[in-house]
Amino acid sequence: MVSSGAGQYLNSSLFIGNNYVYLEETASTNEYLQSLNKEMKLPGGTVISAGYQTRGRGQAGATWESEKDQNIMLSVLLYPKFLKTTNQFALSKAMALAARDFILTFLKDLPVKIKWPNDILVSGQKICGILIENGIKGDQIDYCIIGMGLNINQIFNDGHRASLKSITGIDFDLRETETILFSCIEARYLQLRNHEATISADYLETLFGLNQKRWFKDNINGEDFEGVIKGVHTDGRLVIETDEGEKIYNMKEITQRLTLSSNEG
Ligand code: BTN
Repeated sequence: MVSSGAGQYLNSSLFIGNNYVYLEETASTNEYLQSLNKEMKLPGGTVISAGYQTRGRGQAGATWESEKDQNIMLSVLLYPKFLKTTNQFALSKAMALAARDFILTFLKDLPVKIKWPNDILVSGQKICGILIENGIKGDQIDYCIIGMGLNINQIFNDGHRASLKSITGIDFDLRETETILFSCIEARYLQLRNHEATISADYLETLFGLNQKRWFKDNINGEDFEGVIKGVHTDGRLVIETDEGEKIYNMKEITQRLTLSSNEG
């Protein structure tokens, strides 16, 4: 069941995808990877990829839905021993940048942005979602499971989502394409280990809505408000400047609207 290497395609990364399992169907690749790793200690870089998920998990308790055999849905196991638990969000930044790098391989001239915390948008439409689940032991990160859902060949008609095919008209070979993703993940992971400051700078530079006046919804009191994203704290909280001063939000506490505020171009 555990096959070595990423299928029949040449995987040029050093360790991401060397231990590779492809499942036609599973509840969730994140869940599968988590329980397999409890049964047998898996090597860093192990990838579980699936053609279909019956209970795909999204951020903040949402579900992740994807048509059978149309998109990339996979989870990667990492052991970032070099990261402090207080700095877990740095991995989220690196993985969002990796997914963006991957998308940019195919969509060179389009605006590909990271919407906080780690969605990837192309021209304002979501093309990739990431769900990171960390195992913590004491004050150490024990393991990290990086779940990525990338829209590749599915055509969406909801106006909110895009895929590589909906933009380019090209049908992609999913297994071949995911080896490119492995190289992107590996490159950003190594960069995180050696040059974390570059990861933070690149993340900020590509952050959707940075320094623009935009609408947000405060999920605690249900109210909409205007504000300007000023940055992201080391712990991953979003810093927004509002008329009432600076506010800092956790992921569940805020929803960012995709429309610009009326007085911005
Ligand atoms: C989001 O809500 O934007 C995050 C979606 C993450 C989806 C991926 S698909 C592969 C992996 N397995 C899951 O159950 N979820 C992640």
